[in-house]
Amino acid sequence: MTKEYGHYDDAAREYVITDPCTPWPWINYLGTEDFFGLISNTAGGYSFCKDAKFRRITRYRYNGVPMDAGGRYFYIKDGDTVWNPGWKPCKTPLDFYECRHGMNYTSIEGRKDGVTAKVLFFVPLKTWAEVQKLTLTNTSDKVKKLKLFSFQEWCLWNASTDMENFQRNFSTGEVEIDGSVIYHKTEYKERRNHYAYYSVNIPVQGFDTDRESFLGLYNGFDAPQAVLEGKPRNSVAHGWSPIASHYLEIELKPGESRDLIFVLGYVENAQDDKWESKGVMNKRMARETLSRLDTSAKVDVEFRKLNEYWNNLLSIFNVESGDERMDRTVNIWNQYQCMITFCFSRSASFFESGIGRGMGFRDSNQDLIGFVHQIPERARERIIDIASTQFADGGCYHQYQPLTKRGNDGIGGGFNDDPMWLIFGVCGYLRETGDFSILDEPVPFDNVPGSEKSLFEHLTISFDHVINNLGPHGLPLIGRADWNDCLNLNCFSNDPDESFQTTENKTEGSKAESLMIAGLFVFSGRDYVELCLQLGKNVEADRAQKHIDDMIAAVEKYGWDGDWFLRAYDYYGRKVGSHENEEGQIFIESNGWCTMAGIGLKEGLCDKALDSVKERLDSEHGIVLNNPAFTRYYIEYGEISSYPAGYKENAGIFCHNNPWVMIGETVRGNGKAAMEYWHKICPAYIKDQTLHKVEPYVYSQMVAGKDAFRPGEGKNSWLTGTAAWNWYTITQFILGIKPTYNGLEIDPCISPDMKEYKITRKFRGATYQIEIKNPNGSMCGLQKLLVNGKEIAGNIIPIFSEGSLVHVTAVLQ
Ligand code: GLC
Ligand code: GLC
Repeated sequence: MTKEYGHYDDAAREYVITDPCTPWPWINYLGTEDFFGLISNTAGGYSFCKDAKFRRITRYRYNGVPMDAGGRYFYIKDGDTVWNPGWKPCKTPLDFYECRHGMNYTSIEGRKDGVTAKVLFFVPLKTWAEVQKLTLTNTSDKVKKLKLFSFQEWCLWNASTDMENFQRNFSTGEVEIDGSVIYHKTEYKERRNHYAYYSVNIPVQGFDTDRESFLGLYNGFDAPQAVLEGKPRNSVAHGWSPIASHYLEIELKPGESRDLIFVLGYVENAQDDKWESKGVMNKRMARETLSRLDTSAKVDVEFRKLNEYWNNLLSIFNVESGDERMDRTVNIWNQYQCMITFCFSRSASFFESGIGRGMGFRDSNQDLIGFVHQIPERARERIIDIASTQFADGGCYHQYQPLTKRGNDGIGGGFNDDPMWLIFGVCGYLRETGDFSILDEPVPFDNVPGSEKSLFEHLTISFDHVINNLGPHGLPLIGRADWNDCLNLNCFSNDPDESFQTTENKTEGSKAESLMIAGLFVFSGRDYVELCLQLGKNVEADRAQKHIDDMIAAVEKYGWDGDWFLRAYDYYGRKVGSHENEEGQIFIESNGWCTMAGIGLKEGLCDKALDSVKERLDSEHGIVLNNPAFTRYYIEYGEISSYPAGYKENAGIFCHNNPWVMIGETVRGNGKAAMEYWHKICPAYIKDQTLHKVEPYVYSQMVAGKDAFRPGEGKNSWLTGTAAWNWYTITQFILGIKPTYNGLEIDPCISPDMKEYKITRKFRGATYQIEIKNPNGSMCGLQKLLVNGKEIAGNIIPIFSEGSLVHVTAVLQ
């Protein structure tokens, strides 16, 4: 048995960590809409409102030593012993430790010398605040006199300048102290209309707001001078580094238990309503929020509301497969991760600093397909936001900033796969909701008022962007890169100080074409055609179909390497991903997309390509991106060859694109292969937590590939398209429950040893209870479909009226 640091508690929908020394901080996310927190299993992490860069509330030190320093700390001084419920930062050995990460909440419990301290962290719905409910219990038979210190360190709002501009920052910090509430108001007097606060619901016996006074200049978080001495300094921060720490003396009789409610909140005031009196902030809104959260009873109600919210979200799709690992993944953690990626795109995790990246155009469109069944209204809003950053020629800003919703000039555009993802995302939304009204919404280009065209027209120009940018073989020109950000065929960078993504893009005269975009164009182009037909736009459907047919022909003619699909043509028109190459002979992306699109299925191309993937790219921990890995720098390929072999885009296992091959396998009817691939990358099936390193309850973007130093080691957990792609693949292509314009299609493609499973699916207001039977151990193809006891032709269950309960039995051949 390899070492385990925790286990699932499926009934509670929690992952329970029993050893604080996890191989990497194992984190969770608090908040669902505006106010967010990242929290590790030892209470590390940080908070922000809406934008992790511009409205950072608490400070975090990335890649610090020791790892994961800074967070929501409670210090308990019991006699001469100082300890924390989450073990860190003091690391005093505990008698008991447990962290439970649940759906948007985390609870951390520590026990020491007859005292139990349990903290529940969550963000109540529709609230710009994080609640920290601390329960202290005296389990000993003596009276306990405890000294309790809370701790948060304020970030000076802009997380980027907070780490750089010390000549200014060290002079700007300001706080106000009002009873048990500590207010952080740096820069409030000038251009900011927001402040933060940290409170506790009982009177305090002291406080600190200046970090140096509290810690001592040369002490770490593990040894704050004030705590060690058991004496707060009552310090008021003027510049330097403002913090918030409450000091409380708590006496507990044997067996006595007490709750303390701490609240970390954020407020925006109207410009003309900023002040109560000269120099005194208007605190009305903070007080309002605090009055909603000042007793355990009120907090418990809010917590139940959050649980209810998740009960509802997770009741939309539920499988009983007989395999608890599949059930917990599909029913709980994959859906949860989809919500998190929807909220954060690729901005804030323990691998993404929250400073660098905003919302990705392609990323967010893909995230939609994992989320749209949960809260379609938010998906709708997101679609409009994304499409508003498109350019009039169909090109797109690669990212936009969540606060302003403006395209990010720093990275710009020119990633030629981006436009097609809009079609992919919008069609996913339409199939789930049937809300065609979204297509008539006026949507601007580059957010310029007056430039609006309907969303449908945005789809048309997205489609046309590909056909207006074809290369010498009639295949799509790649631009800066396609899905693979690191395949930079027009970049030729020789300067280590420039970014591969933003440096000059030599597209003039370039012959660099992408087979990945070609496959995407055929796959999502068909969605566009189907949509046009649905709307009665038959002429447009015909026009588009001709381009798709041409693309298929071009792929078959110029994109086939004999045993697999080529990856690309480079700037000079030379093959990439061909047996003729020395390294990088075969790639996952083009083989995934072209088989998903079924290009050359009848002619046997898909079979051959998938067999080659199995032979060349498959490994113990998943399918690697390319093979052989690049072992030297290829200036004509760019960043991909900058990574050491086996990591990231250079032959790492990108969990994000493994599902493309899984879907490809379902296209040829091989459910067994599809599921075997899934088991390799799905966290619930991971065997060695120490090797995997990152959280065992969410997918990671990348697992080190077979050429790496330590194959199987995961990195970049949480914020990855892997969440949505696995969700989409498992629910729609493997378990085979596909939302369509006209109803729910039942089209499983499973492993022959799955003899039956049940699914509950809420769709357009009706609830479908679906039983799938596989008496003959086949992989796909329906023999019979019964809807409310009556056999129907075809495999689409029609749409029932809202509130109906529909019983479905499907029998495989
Ligand atoms: C990251 C990026 C995504 C990209 C992928 C492959 O996951 O967020 O946009 O497609 O890497 O490079
Ligand atoms: C994506 C890729 C990463 C690359 C980055 C560039 O995140 O996964 O390898 O360096 O994009 O922005």
